[in-house]
Amino acid sequence: MPSITSIAAITGFLWTSLTATAAIAAYSGQQALLGTGYSLSSTIRDALIANDVIGDVLDDFEPTYSLDISYPKSHETVLLGNDIAVKAVSKRPVFTFHSLTSPSISAKNLTFTLALTDPDAKSRDKPIWSEMCHWIVTNLTTPEPALHLSKAQPGELEEYLPPSPPPKTGSHRYVFVLLEGDASNLEAPSDRKHWGYGKVRHGVRDWAGENNLTVVGANFFFAQNKKQ
Ligand SMILES: *[C@@H]1O[C@H](CO)[C@@H](O)[C@H](O)[C@H]1NC(C)=O
Ligand SMILES: *[C@@H]1O[C@H](CO)[C@@H](O)[C@H](O)[C@H]1NC(C)=O
Ligand SMILES: *[C@@H]1O[C@H](CO)[C@@H](O)[C@H](O)[C@H]1NC(C)=O
Repeated sequence: MPSITSIAAITGFLWTSLTATAAIAAYSGQQALLGTGYSLSSTIRDALIANDVIGDVLDDFEPTYSLDISYPKSHETVLLGNDIAVKAVSKRPVFTFHSLTSPSISAKNLTFTLALTDPDAKSRDKPIWSEMCHWIVTNLTTPEPALHLSKAQPGELEEYLPPSPPPKTGSHRYVFVLLEGDASNLEAPSDRKHWGYGKVRHGVRDWAGENNLTVVGANFFFAQNKKQ
């Protein structure tokens, strides 16, 4: 039997997650009313482009999955570029993802991998450690809503390294990337710094490419050290 607290945590997560999706959908709806006919996929892509996530971190792509990520203890939800306090992201988040396309596509037996990367280490102006790999969870085989709890998972290739932007380095983008593809022989990068590639601004894009993984979704938040 799950304890009352874990039920409360799950309910809390579902609530914030629904709120996040509703907020994005509402924004999307506004755009549609304005006559631009934006879909949720376009809204996500626009936010990624506006913040140079598409560009610095990922090649252009059409998001086919939405990615709901939430930090249950601090009640924070990742919302395409909101600011979140560093202390609120110290423990693994919970997450789920949803197909934005037809159910027949999402019914396929697909394998997903979730990664968290910081392209702004040590700072956005001087990305000398970029990208820094913060987390990789793989073997996510459930294609439809499944809540992945905030505890160590069997498919955790790289343990969750809590974001800790150094003092006076401005705001960092923390980017979650959802990848799809065969993960049976996936290995962790050789290093967190530069994802082991030894070159500035190399990271999840190289790793995904090397492993034939396709980018299907992304979400991100900003965090900065209190000392600026
Ligand atoms: C789904 O994929 C898993 C892992 O690759 C495999 O073991 C399983 O047999 C597949 N199921 C179907 C229905 O294809
Ligand atoms: C993912 O699943 C495969 C089996 O399909 C297994 O060999 C591999 O060790 C798993 N990876 C992780 C990181 O648990
Ligand atoms: C990726 O795909 C290419 C071309 O299909 C293949 O040669 C290569 O072995 C694959 N790499 C991995 C890691 O699966």
